[in-house]
Amino acid sequence: MGKKKQKLREYNKYWYYEKSVQNPEGEVDFFNEKYGEIRGKQAFTLREDFCGTGAISCKWAAQSENHKSYGIDLDPEPIAYGKEVHYAALDDEAKTRMEYLEANVLDSPTPKVDITFAFNFSYFIFKKRVDLLNYFKAAYESLNDTGVFFIDIFGGPDSIQENEDIIEHSHYDYHWECQKFNPMNNECRFAIHFKRDGEKRRANQFVYEWRMWGIMEIRDLLEEAGFKKTIAYWEEDDEDGDGNGNFYPSEDEEQCESWVTYIGAVK
Ligand SMILES: C[S@@+](CC[C@H](N)C(=O)[O-])C[C@H]1O[C@@H](n2cnc3c(N)ncnc32)[C@H](O)[C@@H]1O
Repeated sequence: MGKKKQKLREYNKYWYYEKSVQNPEGEVDFFNEKYGEIRGKQAFTLREDFCGTGAISCKWAAQSENHKSYGIDLDPEPIAYGKEVHYAALDDEAKTRMEYLEANVLDSPTPKVDITFAFNFSYFIFKKRVDLLNYFKAAYESLNDTGVFFIDIFGGPDSIQENEDIIEHSHYDYHWECQKFNPMNNECRFAIHFKRDGEKRRANQFVYEWRMWGIMEIRDLLEEAGFKKTIAYWEEDDEDGDGNGNFYPSEDEEQCESWVTYIGAVK
């Protein structure tokens, strides 16, 4: 039987981005589990740096009347989408516990929180060591005395080859392209494209000019910024050797072609 023809929804790049790369429920579970393991208690307050649409912050605030979140992003466009889609879906009580700030993460004093995080490698925009250190100091300052800072990171030899990965979804394909990698300074450009069934490819919907940082460079910088301890996580394998979504602290792993994982920094 052929693929069933379905009417396509109105195109919005944030809708396709979130469907392709985000899992807000999974991230909230990750924070609850890992903060509990590190601190032996529950986290309630959260700050999402580089929040984009703030989907994770909205999920966080919805957990209970004691949960509170702040989402910070420079760009009003993803914030507007997030307000229309994620914030609008919260009940009135939860709405009072979620705040978007259109601001710079380097200069956004928020009340001190239990967890600050920066996901989808957003901190890779800082290409100079001193600039990344400066950001990690701002993240340190955003936390209360029992705070934990979480970031994600990706790497592996395949991830720095100039090529394009295509992942098929039910009515569209998600393309992740490494457009450039400069081995002299690790500066690189990545882009996201979408191709809906029956339509032309929509190129460069999101383009990132980054520096690829390594796990140990990051851990050293976090400690220099003041964090007492850092924890590098690694993902468990399923029976086919793919990641199964569970992460555990580790210091020694076998090399693999490409990986995505997390680092926790403990104040
Ligand atoms: C890679 S996107 C990540 C969005 C979201 N965190 C996610 O996980 O999908 C990076 C976001 O960082 C924002 N951004 C870049 N520099 C920033 C800064 N200095 N302060 C606040 N937001 C910034 C951009 O506007 C963009 O929305």
